[in-house]
Order: sequence, then structure tokens, then C-alpha cells
Amino acid sequence: MIDVTLESVSKRFARAGDTAAVDDVDISIAAGEFFTLLGPSGCGKTTTLRMVAGFYFPTSGRIRFGTEDVTHRPPNKRDTGMVFQNYALFPHMSVAQNVAYGLKIRKVGRAESARRIEEALGQVHLAGYGDRRIDQLSGGQQQRVALARALVIRPRTLLLDEPLSNLDAKLREETRVEIRRIQQEAGTTAIYVTHDQSEAMAMSDRIAVMESGRVRQIGAPQEIYHRPATAFVARFIGRSNVLSLPVVTAAAETVTVGLPDGSETAVAAPADHGLRAGDTALVSVRPEHLGLTSTTEAGALPGRVTEVEFTGMATNLVVEVAGEPVQVAAIDVPDGITVGDQVGLRLNRDRMWVVRP
Ligand SMILES: Nc1ncnc2c1ncn2[C@@H]1O[C@H](COP(=O)(O)OP(=O)(O)OP(=O)(O)O)[C@@H](O)[C@H]1O
Ligand SMILES: [Mg+2]
Repeated sequence: MIDVTLESVSKRFARAGDTAAVDDVDISIAAGEFFTLLGPSGCGKTTTLRMVAGFYFPTSGRIRFGTEDVTHRPPNKRDTGMVFQNYALFPHMSVAQNVAYGLKIRKVGRAESARRIEEALGQVHLAGYGDRRIDQLSGGQQQRVALARALVIRPRTLLLDEPLSNLDAKLREETRVEIRRIQQEAGTTAIYVTHDQSEAMAMSDRIAVMESGRVRQIGAPQEIYHRPATAFVARFIGRSNVLSLPVVTAAAETVTVGLPDGSETAVAAPADHGLRAGDTALVSVRPEHLGLTSTTEAGALPGRVTEVEFTGMATNLVVEVAGEPVQVAAIDVPDGITVGDQVGLRLNRDRMWVVRP
């Protein structure tokens, strides 16, 4: 287990024009931490991970494992275990032969190899499966073989690139718990790549949210969820409404904004919000922090229902307020609510938060 640092790391591919796939990224990952790179397709997650693994070298910047500069060191000299999206297992070989791969390269002796393979298979709850062929295993079992193969070399860092994307929804949820357990037990520093925000929040100590090759925010799941730095982060981490509201007064960590019904409300803001009276603030409010009520309730914003979707646990609605669509997720809605109904929207003002564009 070791800490991993990326200092001003950029990667430009020769044929990709002028835009950097990864653009001036600074990340410090603590030893033993479960750290996730999260963002939409093409934002640079895999490229970042491959630079940590040594499959790509940065165009500029430095990568350190502890105090060692590994920026230009080849992958086999880094002690990293890598798990790929498609597992990259050898289908014609047995489970044990697949897991043995990294040990063979490292010229570990037979007895020691056998012991470590059993240990790694035990860690992923596949003890006794060594002689099975890969094509006789389920997707979830194959995924765990890939994990055992990465763990068996006792890597200083475990790198995982969307390892659950081939699994069905239920198995994904089970396996993410397993991966977290194995990482905790092994005490390995883990860097995990996903575009699935709920997976990232469930598994990670901290998350870096990436957009267009840049890191937009780094923080614990709760912090990123409740205090997103930008409108993009707010919308990407769970659905969020980002309302444009006029600033009436601005103070150090509070901005008072005008609401569509003519009332005003104070909203928490980051210290560096830079807003002044007369500016337009972007205010994030999550669908679950809005409630439906009657049009006559004091303080409720009047709106008209334009979409209703029942999902089981919650009902998702779109309510048009002053011409703007607002997403609402409500546990309790009046029976028979339907498109066209006039409703009142109750805002959980404590949960509103000012974001940067
Ligand atoms: N070998 C390559 N040569 C040229 N361009 C590349 C190469 N690899 C990645 N890119 C480009 O770099 C950008 C980032 O790609 P990357 O694979 O890191 O994205 P990602 O965040 O992992 O996306 P996804 O979620 O789809 O896997 C993309 O615009 C991609 O087209
Ligand atoms: Mg990728």
C-alpha cells in the first residue's frame, strides 16, 4: 500500500488534434484509500488510469508512488494490479493458470505460487475453483478471477477500469460490495474508474469528477453530492436542478436570491462564490429536496405538472415553474396526480447550494 500523486499531468494523443485527453490533472491519493475517477464517456478516465499503470506516458507532468518518480517507468516495474472492463482472461486456460500469470512473469517458485494462488482465490471467494476452465464460469465469477489475478502479485496499487460493466444490475451491486471488502482486507490503495455515479458513491473514500480531461472536483461522496462545485458536477452526481436566480444581496458564505413568486431566500454558497447584487446565481437543488403541496400553502412556488413517472419507491415529476422545468422526486404524492395539475412546490431551503457555471 502506497500513496499515489499526479502532478499537473496532461496527455495529448498525436492524432486527436489540439485538445488534451487529460488536461493538467492534480490528484493526491492516500495509502490504502479507495479513490474513484468518475465522469462521462470520453472525459479521460481510462487515459488517466493507464498513465498510472504505465501503459501511456504523460505528455507533461509527474506521477509518484510514495517518493518514487514512476512517470516513465514501464508497467511491469510498477507493482500495479490492473483489472480491465473485459477481464482480459485467457479463456482456454484454467482459473489457476490465469491467476498464476503475474507470478510466472515474476519468476515466483512453484510451491510459493501454489500457496499464493489459493490465497488469492480465497480472497475473492473462489477457493477450490483453480481447475475450472474460464469458459465454465459465470460473468461474476470471471470478474473475481480477474481480481484474484491482480491481487496475487500483492500490488502496491490496484487499478480497476469499469470492472462491473459486463454484469447485470443485481450482480453489479453484489460485486461492488465484494470489491470494496477485498480492497479493505488487502489494505491496497485502489484507483477505480466508472461512469456510474451511484457505484462511485457507494464504494469510494473520495471521488474525482472529471469533465473534458479536467478534474472539476475532488471530495468525499457526501461532499460532492451536497456541495457540488459546478453546475456540471451537480447534474452529473444524481440528477439536479440548477436554477438561475437573481442575486439580491451577497455575503461571505450566503447569497440571498429572488424566487419566481417574488419572495426571497438565503442560500448557502462556497466562500469564493464571487457574486454581487444584480448578478445571476446558479442554485442547485436536488429533486428529492422538493416536495409537492397545494397551491395555497404559504411559501410554496406555484407550478404545473408536465410529466409524471412512477418508479416504485418514488414518483418522478417535472413541474413547470415560471416557464422553467423543475425535476421533483417525491415519495408521497396525491393519488391520481396527472399532467396539467396545478401544484405548489415546497423547497427544502437548507439543501439549496450555489454552484459555479
Ligand atoms: N490511443 C488513443 N489515441 C487517440 N485518442 C485517444 C486514445 N485513447 C483515448 N483517446 C481520446 O482521449 C479522450 C479520453 O479517452 P478515455 O478513453 O480516457 O475516456 P474515458 O473517460 O475512459 O471514456 P469511457 O467512459 O468511454 O471509457 C477521448 O476523446 C478519446 O477519444
Ligand atoms: Mg474508459
